Amino acid sequence: MAGGVKRGALIGCGFFARNHLHGWQDVEGAEIVAVCDLDHEKAQAVGREFGIAGVFDDAARMLAETDLDFVDIATTPPSHRSLVELVCRHGLAVICQKPIADTYAEARAMVEAAEAAGVPFLIHENFRWQLGFVRIKAALDAGRIGAPRFARLSFRHGFDVYATQPYLATIERFVLMDVGIHLYDVLRHLMGEVSHLACETASLRPGVAGEDSFTSLLRHSSGAVSVVDCSFASTIHPEPFPATLAWIEGSTGTLELTTDLRLHIHAAGEKVVESADPEVPAWGARPWHTIQDSVIRFQAHVVDVLNGRAEPQPSGRDNLNTLALTLASYDAMRERQLIDIAQWQERQ
Ligand SMILES: NC(=O)c1ccc[n+]([C@@H]2O[C@H](COP(=O)([O-])OP(=O)(O)OC[C@H]3O[C@@H](n4cnc5c(N)ncnc54)[C@H](O)[C@@H]3O)[C@@H](O)[C@H]2O)c1
Repeated sequence: MAGGVKRGALIGCGFFARNHLHGWQDVEGAEIVAVCDLDHEKAQAVGREFGIAGVFDDAARMLAETDLDFVDIATTPPSHRSLVELVCRHGLAVICQKPIADTYAEARAMVEAAEAAGVPFLIHENFRWQLGFVRIKAALDAGRIGAPRFARLSFRHGFDVYATQPYLATIERFVLMDVGIHLYDVLRHLMGEVSHLACETASLRPGVAGEDSFTSLLRHSSGAVSVVDCSFASTIHPEPFPATLAWIEGSTGTLELTTDLRLHIHAAGEKVVESADPEVPAWGARPWHTIQDSVIRFQAHVVDVLNGRAEPQPSGRDNLNTLALTLASYDAMRERQLIDIAQWQERQ
């Protein structure tokens, strides 16, 4: 697999796949040579727009007929396991959109399938690849605020996400699985593993089936404490979507990521303000550019992994711990219990 431009296929040509396809065109070292969607017209439209010759409505046929190095899965979770296992049977590297699966058992089976096949397995967790979090991770690793002791991640907005993703209004498990899982991945990436978790959820907007807000309190193995809060039913002007705000206190300083994409670093008796505002891709637009840029960063990382220059960030195995926090949050809410995450994972 080393050297040369890596040949990829994309499965799922829906709403978010457009970001994948634009991103792959911007990234050096990989190209998408085939696309697949159960809805043949969607695959054909994408093939035409992005100049991709291979157009399929059956993933098994696409894999049998196409010479590939990797497969990028951008479908919704119910199809993830069967598609990942199919790709593993072909011995190809596989990338799967979040959430990896609806259940922990399914996710674990997928990780085991990839490990048994000896193929790289990455989860498309692009939030940790947003420039703000890339900069925060570098600042923490450089010790700019000392040892992290407290974090707050906040994702609150009133944006009409249902216009482009109508299925979000109908799913029983909503914001924890949609955005909570991103926030938990970022939190583990920055603050380390979580030992205990409590969570409260609420369903605020009429016509939305699942929870559209949650607040979680987490204890890390390091002893640090975090709060993660998220709402899709907040009235805020100007609308902050899709910004994630962060506040992290360390033993010698504090980091703050604000809606205007600035990183404030309070340390050594002063505050330094740095930009965390990425370039807008040629195909992109504000304010989506933070997400669009993070997709390109993640995909450039995938090329590094395919060429043996990096370890998956995050891997499927790593992502099991993120999924555990997400699913355990529902149990914490239902049982009004503080959940011990290691014990919760053992029970699955
Ligand atoms: N990382 C992010 O920032 C981000 C943002 C939005 C969505 N997502 C994730 O992306 C995934 C897709 O979301 P979406 O909003 O694009 O969904 P979507 O419903 O718009 O698109 C999914 C597509 O997959 C196709 N599909 C389903 N099963 C298939 C199969 N077995 N073979 C081929 N095609 C199949 C469907 O026909 C559909 O066109 C979800 O898991 C979602 O959580 C991630």
